[in-house]
Formats: sequence, C-alpha cells, structure tokens
Amino acid sequence: MIELTKKSATSPANIAFIKYWGKKNSKLNIPYNNSISMNLDSCLTTTTVHFMDNLKEDEVVIDCKKVEGEARNRVVRILDIVRTWAKIKTKAKVSSINNFPSDAGVASSASAFSALALAASSSAGLKLSKKKLSILARLGSGSASRSVISGFSEWKKGSTTNDSYAVQIEKPSYWDLRDIVTIVSSEKKEKSSTEGHGAALTSPYFKERQKELISRTNNLKKAFLRKDIDTFGKLLEEETLDLHLIAMTSKPPIFYLNSTTFAVMQVLRELRVKGIKGYYTMDAGPNVHIICRQKDVDIINKTIKRVPGVKSTIINKARVGTRFSNNHLF
Ligand code: DP6
Repeated sequence: MIELTKKSATSPANIAFIKYWGKKNSKLNIPYNNSISMNLDSCLTTTTVHFMDNLKEDEVVIDCKKVEGEARNRVVRILDIVRTWAKIKTKAKVSSINNFPSDAGVASSASAFSALALAASSSAGLKLSKKKLSILARLGSGSASRSVISGFSEWKKGSTTNDSYAVQIEKPSYWDLRDIVTIVSSEKKEKSSTEGHGAALTSPYFKERQKELISRTNNLKKAFLRKDIDTFGKLLEEETLDLHLIAMTSKPPIFYLNSTTFAVMQVLRELRVKGIKGYYTMDAGPNVHIICRQKDVDIINKTIKRVPGVKSTIINKARVGTRFSNNHLF
C-alpha cells in the first residue's frame, strides 16, 4: 500500500548558456540540441503537493490564485504521469509560489516544473533517481530538466523520452560566476517560448545553427572548465545572438529584445574596454542576464542600474538543484 503524504520542494530557475530552441518532439519536449545552464539562487519556486482521497478534481493554486485553463492543464499532465507511474487514481492539491515577482519577466517554468516533479512524485510515494526526476521535469517544461541538477548542468538531448535528461557539469562552487538579471520590462512576452520553439524550424538558418552548435557547445564547455572568462563570454554572446537571429527570421518573425536590451549590451561592451568583464545573454524575452565574476558584480550592477529603462536587477550565484522543503504551503 502506497502512502500518500504532503510533500514540498524548492527549485531554482536557470539561465541557459547554450540554449534549447526547437523541439524534435513537441509532446515530449525532446530538443534538437544539447543545452547548458547555471541554476539561479535568487529565483526560486516552492511547491507543495498532496494527493488526497477526498478530492474530486485536481486543484492548482499559483501565487495564491486558483488557476484554470492551459496553466492548469500543464500541471495536471505531470500529475497524470505521476499517477500512472505510482499506479494510483487519487486527485491532488497543488500550491506553488515564486520568491521573485511573477511580473519580472523571469521565466518561472523551469523552477516551477522541477519543483512540481519532486513534490508530486514523492507525495505519490515514488522515490525517483535524479535522471528520472529530470525526465519528469522535462515533460512539464524542457528547461526544467536542468534545474533538477546542482550547479552547472548539461541537458543531453537524447532521442527518446528515457534518454533525454540533464547531468551535472560542475557543482555550484566550481566557478564564482554571477548572473545579474537586469529587468528592462515586466510585461508578459508577446510570444511564449513554447510558441518560439515551434516557429524556430521555419527560419532558413535553423539548420546552420545546429551545425554551428556542435563546436560552440564543445568550446563553451571547455572554456567553462578552464575558467577562461574571455572565451566563455565571447561564445555566450555569440549563442544569444544566434537564438535571436533564429527568432527574428522565423516566419512570422518574433522580436523579444527591446531598445533597453540593446542599451545594456552597449554599456557592457564599453565596460569591457575598461577591463570590467560582463557578458550578456537573453532568453525568450528582453531582460538581460549579465554573466560575470564575483569581483566585478558591484561595479557592473551600479553602472547598469543607471541605464535609462532598467527597472531593477537580481543578483544570482549558482545553486543546488531541486530539494525537499519543510515550508508547506497548505
Ligand atoms: C530561450 O523550457 O520554456 O529559455 O519546453 O515549451 O516549456 P517549453 O520551453 P522552455 O524553453 C526555454 C527556452 C529558452 C532557452 C533555454 O532555457 O534553454
């Protein structure tokens, strides 16, 4: 007899150095290429799940509001997988909160689905390996597969659902990299990343990107391992521009960046002339993730906050992956 208990988990968002953009299988979130990321210690989601016999329907609450529609369906899909794996039919109550403002434009699907994967599977009595947990998180949102793993991780694309999961490259303390998340817009983006993945294949440059990625991924990983910030930063920026080139040449085109994004990129180039090394990377939105060493955080943060259009910044270091929490939300 499986014991159904209340379980909570906390999980970080992550920033991709090499990006997941384009799905080979959009139902299973199997990507075209490997991706590499760092977990963010100031951008966390905590989720509580309890499978309870008296419930008629799954109940999903996000940031204290009951959710319906597509947001709820995505959560129920993961609950259904967990029910199949645990051989139960019981419905669940799910509640989730982010410690960063949900209107900050910081993607929360990675932290949300990785926290959900651990809380839901353990509430159903399952003890999943890291690999299985990464797979379950991936089925909710592709990038969530990487948040499960501590520090810096690589999502190996695989070719079936059982071999597409993330593994650790290095633990959080390996390198003192920081991510200054620079909020330049808090509006909901026009096109979700899920829509962007679909459009990516319509870009005439998508195939070129896949070819380039083989050496870029290898070289970025090598630069990371030898802590070579110049080469690492150059490849990081190259990768970002490549993703946005694909987005802008998709049919119809998708524009994620705004004028403040470009202003911040320019200021970073100017700082580098003075020997202060910060490098930009942007996901499917206008906010700039500035990657730098700990010693340069204060000066970069101070300078960037003065750029007109910058609303706020969130400083992150690398963090452990998804963990149990005692902070039950109900
Ligand atoms: C640009 O993981 O949000 O942030 O699998 O449809 O949920 P779904 O997509 P998602 O895509 C993330 C795209 C990205 C790059 C990245 O994080 O690798």
